[in-house]
Amino acid sequence: MNDCFKLRDGVGYLEDVPLTAIAERCGTPTYVYSRAHFTVQYNALDTALAAVPHTICYAVKANSNLAVLNVFARLGAGFDIVSGGELERVMRAGGDPAKVIFSGVGKSAAEIDFALKLGIGCFNVESAAELERLELHARRLARRAPVSVRVNPDIDAGTHPYISTGLKTNKFGVPRDEALSLYRAVENSQWLDVVGIDCHIGSQISSPAPLLEALTSLLQLTDTLNEQGIAIRHIDIGGGLGVRYRDEAPFELDSYARDVCAALAGRNVHLLLEPGRFLVANGGVLLTRVEYLKPARDATHRNFAVLDAAMNDLIRPTLYQAWHGVSVVAPVEHATQTRWDLVGPVCESGDFLAHDRELGLDEGALLAIHSAGAYGFVQSSNYNSRNRAAEVLVDGDQFAVVRRRETLAEQLRGETVLQDGQPE
Ligand code: LLP
Repeated sequence: MNDCFKLRDGVGYLEDVPLTAIAERCGTPTYVYSRAHFTVQYNALDTALAAVPHTICYAVKANSNLAVLNVFARLGAGFDIVSGGELERVMRAGGDPAKVIFSGVGKSAAEIDFALKLGIGCFNVESAAELERLELHARRLARRAPVSVRVNPDIDAGTHPYISTGLKTNKFGVPRDEALSLYRAVENSQWLDVVGIDCHIGSQISSPAPLLEALTSLLQLTDTLNEQGIAIRHIDIGGGLGVRYRDEAPFELDSYARDVCAALAGRNVHLLLEPGRFLVANGGVLLTRVEYLKPARDATHRNFAVLDAAMNDLIRPTLYQAWHGVSVVAPVEHATQTRWDLVGPVCESGDFLAHDRELGLDEGALLAIHSAGAYGFVQSSNYNSRNRAAEVLVDGDQFAVVRRRETLAEQLRGETVLQDGQPE
């Protein structure tokens, strides 16, 4: 396995905590994260880039639990946010607003005001219309807005189409020639300051080549801007570094980092990155139990193991055909060993977590779905009126519930039955 899960005498652990203990205390389904793994990943990236001044801005969207954000804040990370909600989380987790960069194509007026008042580090502007709105609000609040223009370099990141963002057919960023005119507009405004240039071409990118191509494109544009007297202080190369879910070739971090540092050598710029998945994906598992077994009647049927976790808890297999490893967490007494389809209780045939897995299962068996630390809980929903899972953070031989399981009362709060057309 590629993640933080380890088997000791047939029992699954994260760090020094047996997952059986967490399941007993917290129930299932529960997301469990390893603080040590997050730290190791952060430090690996930080060290690999030591040759250039840089800030790692953790992409909050990957896993926005306050305790997880706090781990990165303590490590000195900045944060890449895409909403006012994420900004509020960063503040509550002890993040430094000056190290926050605000990405996203649809920043609302309220979100812009919130970020301006907090004095965030940079707005990654994605369109001329957004720049106009940002200027208006900066003027109204009499606060200068630091700006980077998100360039769409039209580069194929070679990843799943839903998570590819750097092609001209994607909604993100602006073409290079348009970026020039946006920078001129920033220069001409007394309420806007040019601070950087950025791009993000996609996620789960397995080879450094497209990322380096995007960096080259940003550097060329930086040179053009410099020639026109527009100084760029930081270069933000986005996130996207791939991780191993199965048997993918590992992302060559060291050679990538060396190439990035070489490309920046001699330039007086600060490097920013926006990694999410790389820092957290393999630092989490989703703990779930088998509710029922529905073995195949004959070879034309399939063996179904119905779990207590479903597509509403982890939608990646359904949405992106993503493969997640699955392990049995504790010895199973009366196991039926065969190839199982692991499905959830949700009423859709697309509700599956894994297909065709050779496992020995019985009712009540405890399983870990691997590599669930990124885009897991954050993409969960209440579909089928299911409560959202609990989240636990492991640290050495200790663990703490960092989000308790949602209750029905919490889920239904805010809804109203109308009596004779009037709210109650
Ligand atoms: N920066 C921006 C502007 C982004 O849009 C993203 C991810 C990141 C940084 C972080 O990318 P990462 O380093 O995590 O690859 N839900 C999908 C992934 C969506 C990624 C969206 N943007 C999944 O489960 O695979």
